[in-house]
Parts: sequence; C-alpha cells; structure tokens
Amino acid sequence: MFDFAPGAGAHKPEIYRELVAAALALTDAEPDAVANMANCAALIATFLSDLNWAGFYRVIPGNPDELVLGPFIGKPACIRITIGQGVCGTAAATRQTQCVADVHAFPGHIACDADSRSELVVPVIRDGQVVAVIDLDSPLPARFDTDDAAGIEALAAAIAGRI
Ligand code: SME
Repeated sequence: MFDFAPGAGAHKPEIYRELVAAALALTDAEPDAVANMANCAALIATFLSDLNWAGFYRVIPGNPDELVLGPFIGKPACIRITIGQGVCGTAAATRQTQCVADVHAFPGHIACDADSRSELVVPVIRDGQVVAVIDLDSPLPARFDTDDAAGIEALAAAIAGRI
C-alpha cells in the first residue's frame, strides 16, 4: 500500500515539494509510462484540493498534430485535441503554461466537464519535444496561481523522463 499525503497545514510550495517527491518515489525504476502517469494523476488528486479533473494528454510518436487523452481522475473527457486548440492544445503549441482564471473567457476552451471554471495546463517537455500536457480543472474560478503553476511545472520537469 502507498500512503502518500501532504503534511497537515503545509503551504502550497511545500505541498508541491512533497507532491514532486512522492511522484519521483512512485515512478522510480518503473519504465511503463501509462502506469507512471496514472499514479501521478492519483497523487495530484490526493495532494490538491478543489479539483474536478486532473490528468494527462499525450503526444503520440508519429502524430505531432494531436493530443490524445491519457490517465486521469475525473469525468470522461474528450479524447483528441488538435495542437493549438483549447487550453491544452495552446499549452502544447506555445510550450507555455496556461493558467486560466475563467475558462469561459478563454477563446476556444473545450468544455469536457460543465463544472470546470478555471484550468491550469503545463507542457511536459523531453529532449526539446512536448510529449504531454498535465491538465488540472477546478470548479472554482481562479483556483490556480503562480505557486500552482510553478509546482506543476516542477512536477512536469521531474517526470518528463518517466512518462
Ligand atoms: N478544457 C480543456 C480540455 C480538456 S478537459 O478540461 C479535461 C481544453 O480546453 O483544452
């Protein structure tokens, strides 16, 4: 049994340090990318509050134009997203974290869960290529701030070679 959980009363940067450490421990020496993404999605859902969706979209080798749904926690979601479209496709196309306070104000936002109000998407870059994005949705407006962006970017960097 794995029993990873954030320390009681920890502040955001500390929660993310613990989350990254847990992700590194859980994915250590495991070569299967799907297993590692699945456990990382579960860790995100365990460590962070006020999320209604957390998971991965992947770039499949040989198909650089699309993101394909990967392991996640939440309601069933759209399976394929064209690079450049929606919040996820924009993060992949620009290689930049997208921190969206109000998804309804984001041009081309793709609604997978009607409960989502804000969203954070971070590209995962390995050897100069976007190999996936990490997508977090919240039912709260403006749920994500710069600490969340930095924390998920640290997670993305830590696991880029393991997914
Ligand atoms: N909202 C995303 C689509 C994925 S779901 O949120 C799970 C987007 O606009 O790309």
